[in-house]
Amino acid sequence: MRKFTFDKFGLKNLKLVHAEPEPLPPTGCVRVDLTALSLNYRDLLVLRGSYNPKLALPATPISDAAGVVSEVSAGVTRFKVGDPVVTHAVSRWIDGPCQADYKSSMLGCPEPGMGAEQVVLPADALLPLPEGYDFAQAATLPIAALTAWSALVTEGDVQPGQSVLTLGTGGVSIFALQLAKALGAKVIITSSSDEKLARAAQLGADHTINYTTNPKWDAEVQRLENGLGVNLTVETIGSATFGQSLRATRTNGIIALVGALHGLACEVNLAHILMNRIHVAGIFVDSRAAFEDLIRFIEQHHIRPVIDRRFPFDELPRALEYLAAGRHFGKIVVEI
Ligand SMILES: NC(=O)c1ccc[n+]([C@@H]2O[C@H](COP(=O)([O-])OP(=O)(O)OC[C@H]3O[C@@H](n4cnc5c(N)ncnc54)[C@H](OP(=O)(O)O)[C@@H]3O)[C@@H](O)[C@H]2O)c1
Repeated sequence: MRKFTFDKFGLKNLKLVHAEPEPLPPTGCVRVDLTALSLNYRDLLVLRGSYNPKLALPATPISDAAGVVSEVSAGVTRFKVGDPVVTHAVSRWIDGPCQADYKSSMLGCPEPGMGAEQVVLPADALLPLPEGYDFAQAATLPIAALTAWSALVTEGDVQPGQSVLTLGTGGVSIFALQLAKALGAKVIITSSSDEKLARAAQLGADHTINYTTNPKWDAEVQRLENGLGVNLTVETIGSATFGQSLRATRTNGIIALVGALHGLACEVNLAHILMNRIHVAGIFVDSRAAFEDLIRFIEQHHIRPVIDRRFPFDELPRALEYLAAGRHFGKIVVEI
């Protein structure tokens, strides 16, 4: 079987190699023949060494995948050979609140990644595909869709008629738009591109703001919300936008802090948080139980992921360069 590995940080060091299939542990695991991967900004951070500079190398990147179970070890009752499955990125987080050690069970860093034709995983780290989804569609869900769900539902408890602001048109933000509309919320979305904003409007965005031509987008959000601000901001960017996100969020509102696209350190005027009783909720994907709830919701609301572009497996490095360039809208998929 073939897999991608890197022995030094940097996208240019990603190589496709032939490897012996990993032995299947005697209990609790399954072998999956992967058919589709999806890319997340996190995969770039992992490859660049900025996500975890201490990651043991060589490593295989990529967190999200879907495929078919080809072998099961003893004690596995959730799946049988031939079942289509999708991965759950935080593999040990089954249910309940997040625990400190769950971070160490994340696929694609520090656990081995999915950039391979075949992987061995605990059966607990897999779910069945949503009804009517193909492998490429399913592979878009584990991080981007579940993070949007975590922001809107687990932490945000968004109700019909409430307002949601989401930043940019990448994977998490487009899922946040689709899920928030299905929850009955009003959605404001920002982008650097008018063309992408037109596509977001077609997906149901109520208001669109170009943050390049309108750098005071927080004031525009306030204006659109009659001076109150939104109930919930899905903060997918981080230090570059956090101050403006605070000013765009209403009293008693929530900032679901998802992203770290432009660095992690920033100066914050704490008065905005305390005087307005704003809740800042740190988001770290979500549990498998939340993923199951998300799957039921997307089946019920017939939500289909937006796939910007598909690449063949041996072009994974090109697909990652395309992600880094930020020209995409929604998700990028690699098919095996
Ligand atoms: N906490 C978690 O559990 C979790 C889970 C998933 C992702 N994340 C993080 O969330 C972030 C987004 O991830 P992703 O996979 O959705 O990334 P992505 O698909 O690469 O999307 C990035 C998008 O961000 C937009 N952007 C860049 N700079 C911006 C700015 N200053 N203001 C507004 N938008 C800006 C761009 O949209 P336009 O082209 O439209 O301008 C770009 O396409 C990353 O930092 C990622 O690491 C965290």
